[in-house]
Amino acid sequence: MTRLEILRRAMLPLDGTIADWVPGIMDAYARIVPMRDWPKITMVDFTAGSCLMPTLFAASGVRRLVVNDFAPRSHLAASFLFGRRRIDAARVSALLAAKRPKLRAHVPTFHFACDYLVEPACDVFDRLYHADVPAAERTGLQYLAVRWALGFAKSVEDGFEILYTHDPARLARMRDVDWTAYLARARRPGPVLAQLVKELNAAIDAIGPAKARLRCADMKDVAKGLKLSTPVFAAVNPPTRGLDEYTIDDQLVHSLMANRWLPLSQTSETPLAFWTRRVDAGLRHLPSGAHYMVWGGDGSMRWSECLRVWSLYGTPLHVSRLGENPESPGWAIFRKQPK
Ligand SMILES: C[S@@+](CC[C@H](N)C(=O)[O-])C[C@H]1O[C@@H](n2cnc3c(N)ncnc32)[C@H](O)[C@@H]1O
Repeated sequence: MTRLEILRRAMLPLDGTIADWVPGIMDAYARIVPMRDWPKITMVDFTAGSCLMPTLFAASGVRRLVVNDFAPRSHLAASFLFGRRRIDAARVSALLAAKRPKLRAHVPTFHFACDYLVEPACDVFDRLYHADVPAAERTGLQYLAVRWALGFAKSVEDGFEILYTHDPARLARMRDVDWTAYLARARRPGPVLAQLVKELNAAIDAIGPAKARLRCADMKDVAKGLKLSTPVFAAVNPPTRGLDEYTIDDQLVHSLMANRWLPLSQTSETPLAFWTRRVDAGLRHLPSGAHYMVWGGDGSMRWSECLRVWSLYGTPLHVSRLGENPESPGWAIFRKQPK
């Protein structure tokens, strides 16, 4: 299996990820900075999301990284993927098999997530996420628990179906929604988790000894606080349609992690203001000569408007568009110009 396949299996499933374009982005960067020089660079991902890009850079020789995302689900993913600690498969089997597993105090997840997860699925989540184990083991088990729960989604794009009944026989007979895969997963946690543990541990081995500074904050504050010196490669990919759709998409996974049902909220910033302020902060504080990867044109701003903002700070070295249309979305790599 290639490094890319290994890391794609371990990444956090996320609607809105640019994971499909990451190999092309890294190839384009390798034509600007040869891979033999990558051990010297600092890779900064201000909006890590699925974490595929920083993990693939680490697996390709980059040793210094800053990995940030505002969302706890991505911070947990990064904490595991850059934690250099494999998950103990025997521990997972023991937690699954135990009549009364030793768990930290928590509210049973089924009490608040029952509209989307059947009780057996919630029970497995609790055995892993709230396991009373040494702290060093906790991150891996918690990321495994999150991946177990996210696997019950219809798809990354469509998210979770509402459970109008918890009777497996009735779910199986339903015609409008196919619950087959869902019910099979809930019935066989052992083999599903064993496969996931294998995939997540393979990623730990592929990523190797890279050192990552992890952040879970608004990129505009992270950018201000970073003291970077070149060579730097920075990924700046905040939501192009505002934050609210992420809040909705993340409601279940963040509620599982918070161990209570989290109310939805709406940002007071328009998608345009939200994007512009983050991109501005992300680029403004980069040192001159840094390379930055940006994405846009698929949201509240047209490609030409995004290009105008990105060009305030540097010169494009590579541009890739996702279509022929002059306003088709795309991505680009720039070099930061001196002020
Ligand atoms: C378009 S996604 C892309 C993620 C990533 N590049 C990928 O391909 O998986 C945007 C990410 O930005 C994160 N995000 C949203 N607002 C943020 C902020 N103010 N600071 C940092 N990250 C933010 C979201 O949680 C989401 O993971």
